[in-house]
Amino acid sequence: MEAIILVGGFGTRLRPLTLTVPKPLLPLANIPMVERMIRNLPEIFDTAILAVNYGLNDMRKYFEGRDIGKKVIIVPEEEPLGTGGAMRNCIDYVTGTTAVFNGDVVSSINLNEMLEQHIKTKAKGTLALWKVKDPSRFGVVEFSNGEILQFQEKPEKGSELSNLINAGTYLLELEILEMIPPNQKISIERDIYPKVAGNGLHGFPFEGYFIDSGTPESYLEANFKSIGNNGTASHTGASIRGSVMIHEDAKLEHCIIGPNVIIGPKVKLEKCVIRNSVILSNVNSYGAVIEDSIIGPNIQVKNDIKQNLISPEGKIAF
Ligand code: GDD
Ligand code: MG
Repeated sequence: MEAIILVGGFGTRLRPLTLTVPKPLLPLANIPMVERMIRNLPEIFDTAILAVNYGLNDMRKYFEGRDIGKKVIIVPEEEPLGTGGAMRNCIDYVTGTTAVFNGDVVSSINLNEMLEQHIKTKAKGTLALWKVKDPSRFGVVEFSNGEILQFQEKPEKGSELSNLINAGTYLLELEILEMIPPNQKISIERDIYPKVAGNGLHGFPFEGYFIDSGTPESYLEANFKSIGNNGTASHTGASIRGSVMIHEDAKLEHCIIGPNVIIGPKVKLEKCVIRNSVILSNVNSYGAVIEDSIIGPNIQVKNDIKQNLISPEGKIAF
């Protein structure tokens, strides 16, 4: 079975960091976001298809010769085709029921359970659904007895049909992919789902967590969730507080690390205090206090830092 991962988009809200690293290759707990998604696929999915426009060369370079346990096919788009157009562009590589993921979503969805439901209900499509307080910046559904009766993308505040949103994970029959006109810019959310709603489109509400990891704050949160049970419990060069992940190629001396910290490869820190932050590869510092920040790669930190994103192309406060 195949899974399509939509990895277009410029990662605008994570600039300037995404000027040097395309968003899908930004690490979550030291593993690139898209690789993590592929590794998390249930065994029954043997092939991951990456629908790519921005960052194509970096993506090709990253996956070339790297074995991550699944077949990886990179399908380029000359022009961004939109979420629907990008899926349609992958149709030659799929053989039946297909999973589709928004590449920027990090969630606790159980895809096996979702697939079981999808098969049992004989749905044309099943969309993972998540409950939020403010649904207006998402796709919103009217949901009843397991079926999606209406779909509205980014409705105006006040006109939302419910608090249940499209969580960006789908199981689709070929019939739906074939409804998408080829070689055109098509939004699956605006142009296709409203038409299939009420006619075989099902929903799979889930609980746990759901993070659209596109902003500095949500990128941090997605990182902290991704530590999971794989955290670093102790380290010779640091006193550890709470959930922390330290890469084996990092060198720390007399540091206080945590809670919620990820330290990447080739990082060198001495007498630093780090809280609620992601330190990407090859960051150096002596004596800095770093809080609520994203730093790196390849940065020398000389001063204390709070709520900043500091990258080789510049920095922003958030
Ligand atoms: N290949 C390709 N080509 N991918 C694309 C394109 C494109 O032209 N446009 C968007 N994508 C990818 C993005 O990279 C992202 O992974 C995914 O499709 C969704 O696009 P976003 O731009 O992140 O959309 P959104 O976050 O505003 O809304 C979507 O996600 C919400 C959940 O986070 C919609 O699916 C909403 O309905 C949903 O609620
Ligand atoms: Mg998004």
